Amino acid sequence: MKQALTGVALAVASLAASAQGQVNIICSVQAEWCNLMSTVYSRTTGTKVNMTAKGSGEALAQLNAEKANPKTDIWFGGTGDPHLQAAEQGLTLEYKSEQIKDLHPWAQKQAADSKYRTVGVYLGPLGFGFNNELLAKKKAKAPASWADLLKPEFKGEVQMANPASSGTAYTMIATLVQLMGEDKAFDYMKSLHKNVSTYTRSGTAPVKAAARGETTVSISFVHDVTTEAVNGFPVGSATPTEGTGAEVGSMSIVKGGPNTEVAKKFYEWALTPGGQQFGLAAKQFQLPSNTKVPKDPRMTDPAKIKLINYDYAKYGASAERRRLIAKWEKEIQNLSR
Ligand code: F6P
Repeated sequence: MKQALTGVALAVASLAASAQGQVNIICSVQAEWCNLMSTVYSRTTGTKVNMTAKGSGEALAQLNAEKANPKTDIWFGGTGDPHLQAAEQGLTLEYKSEQIKDLHPWAQKQAADSKYRTVGVYLGPLGFGFNNELLAKKKAKAPASWADLLKPEFKGEVQMANPASSGTAYTMIATLVQLMGEDKAFDYMKSLHKNVSTYTRSGTAPVKAAARGETTVSISFVHDVTTEAVNGFPVGSATPTEGTGAEVGSMSIVKGGPNTEVAKKFYEWALTPGGQQFGLAAKQFQLPSNTKVPKDPRMTDPAKIKLINYDYAKYGASAERRRLIAKWEKEIQNLSR
């Protein structure tokens, strides 16, 4: 036993000596996951990990702002649409991972759509979170459909994020446009606005508010509702009966970043089963992109819900993403209630 441990210690030490250096990461998943990955990676490789947390839209804005002199090496996590936009804008490096053959087809497609300037790291369907205690107090039924969110009993009781900063909210807009057609989707969002109390900066803020009894309903990725439930909050989730979209959470290497060779090593590790186990370890329930990572029964099985055939390339294209967000800002955000 002692000998085996010495062997492991030696292996870790030699890995540490061979990698080292540092890597600057913008992380767009929840802090618990970012911190765990960063701690494990730096301890096992000796590489210093400088991690900054940012929502998907904000991360893209930061990469654009740094374009002339990039400070970031890796953008880990966040919805796939802004990663595709970054790829199209030439902000991220073309790099084909050695792990690609082990990834689910949706993760491989994300890589191919971007000409290997990004890759899928997880999948997560969009839905609702709700506070069961507040629903019981109101004697209201849990929302099960997009139509249910418009009910008068939810006036001022729905929270969602702002699509300019949040990939979750942009995924909702793109989902509704694909599900209903653009005109009907914007009419729907105008009606929904009457029930929305606030548009938060971060995509996970609405479900945290629902968990803590500050709002009855949130529009959220269902895995984020599961995290709150597992942490003991009285929340439940649903995926809309009319159909819904899903994010392909992604990872990209920044073009011209200060530590590209170290970044490639982190990128490879983050796609291996070993690297992908830390989402679940941090109580995050997205479906990992590597097919060899064991599934957890608390992860939503995409085959069991009504998923639309989301056109990631179209809704991740710069012009379309900018247009839809600008239209939402103009037509919805400041409407009087
Ligand atoms: O980390 C939780 C999560 O929902 C991810 O699955 C997702 O990619 C990200 O947050 C989106 O965050 P935001 O909406 O703030 O961009």
